[in-house]
Amino acid sequence: MIVCVCKNVSDRQIRAAMADGATTVRALRNELAVSTCCGKCAPEVKRMVDNQDMTLAAQVVSNAQDTVRGAGERVGVKLRSSLYQPAQI
Ligand code: FES
Repeated sequence: MIVCVCKNVSDRQIRAAMADGATTVRALRNELAVSTCCGKCAPEVKRMVDNQDMTLAAQVVSNAQDTVRGAGERVGVKLRSSLYQPAQI
């Protein structure tokens, strides 16, 4: 789906750029020239960046839970299952 009509930039291109490290609206603007003409795509680009932040936060929480679970198993401690529930973000 085309997000930026002025520069003909798709959501796939934006996601690929974010995966390559362009994790801010400014970086995407520099990388893909989104939101540099009429600006109508700016809210959608910002939404995609914000959702990327949420995805990264969920990954950090999941990795921390895996670490705690692994540490507990290594020392023979059985943690309560409620600690294993993924955080709601
Ligand atoms: S739609 Fe992106 S700058 Fe116009």
